[in-house]
Amino acid sequence: MVREAFELSPASVVEGKDGYDHFMLKEIHEQPEALRRTLNGYIKDGLVDLSDLEINELFDGIKKIYIVGCGTAYHAGLVGRRAIEKLAKIPVEIDIASEFCYRDIPWGTDELMIIISQSGETADTLAAMREAKKFGTRVLAVTNVVDSTIAREADKVIYTQAGPEVSIASTKAYTCQLAIMYLLAFNLAHQRGTWDEQELRQMGNDLVNMDLNIETALGQEPRIKKIAQRYYQVENTFFLGRGFDAAVAMEGALKLKETSYIHAEAYPTGELKHGPIALITEGVPVLTAITQESLVERSISNLKEIKARGGVIIAVCTENLKEECQVCDEIIPIPAVNPILTPIVTVVPLQLFAYYMAVTRGNNVDQPRNLTKAVTVE
Ligand code: M6R
Repeated sequence: MVREAFELSPASVVEGKDGYDHFMLKEIHEQPEALRRTLNGYIKDGLVDLSDLEINELFDGIKKIYIVGCGTAYHAGLVGRRAIEKLAKIPVEIDIASEFCYRDIPWGTDELMIIISQSGETADTLAAMREAKKFGTRVLAVTNVVDSTIAREADKVIYTQAGPEVSIASTKAYTCQLAIMYLLAFNLAHQRGTWDEQELRQMGNDLVNMDLNIETALGQEPRIKKIAQRYYQVENTFFLGRGFDAAVAMEGALKLKETSYIHAEAYPTGELKHGPIALITEGVPVLTAITQESLVERSISNLKEIKARGGVIIAVCTENLKEECQVCDEIIPIPAVNPILTPIVTVVPLQLFAYYMAVTRGNNVDQPRNLTKAVTVE
């Protein structure tokens, strides 16, 4: 059974902003509901059940997975790679769709491609999918738009149930793509017996409850607005994180640059000392996500290097790691959830930060310059 998904049609575009100033803010706030819809029916007693989708045979004997997408969809794939490799022990390669076709991949027969695209019409992503299909590779699409080209050409589809996403800056589609990545990782881990069943049940239940954690993170909106009003005039920023936080840092930077036009560079925290730290000068804001207890010590020592050079550190950190984050200038706390699942919550303050930076600068936040919702040219 394939459940109905959403089509971005002119009729749905005029749905309205429901009292919000912009679609982007409305869509950020819609995330708890979008997540509930996307997960609906797929988790039973904590365990993932995707049997309705008839996708299990796609994974039979798979020894390697390629995940491909552009922009925000690619960033969701970065999280997916970590979750699948950690839990299901399947090697995952991830690539940006526009680069994928220039590789000469020695394709094997036991490989699967997961294509992620909100619109299902992105030309680069479509080209990458067609390239893989030429070699007989099985393709699973994760998309938000029913009957889109990618949905039609893939072997199987899982629809995100984000609802129509009008703002060019993708927000709720990303959290729904993450939800699908976790469903796939949990499902594969269970089928292959690569992770303890009880722990998988716990994580499945935690995933179902992530809507509440997003709501808690949304409660930080007034604090984030004030922070944005303090820093909106800056021209350069950095976004850092380790492990799962590194993937979210990339999404945070993309949100900021496309809506506020502020230069935002994302790096894995450990990479900073290999060059970019030369750019840290007095007053440069460094946004960081600190949610991984096992990595916090190393990250804090890197942050001290930034502080010593006059950088301003704004940290999105889980409640349990607040003490460790005292070196930071601004702290945006989020609930302490299972470290594997934190990206779904961590991204919310970063989306709000980008939104308030952009509106404080007077930008057209829903339709930033030079961008379109679906990029249908290569
Ligand atoms: O529709 P798609 O998910 O294939 O789009 C991919 C990117 O063009 C898209 O995520 C873009 O980066 C967004 N504007 C990011 O907010």
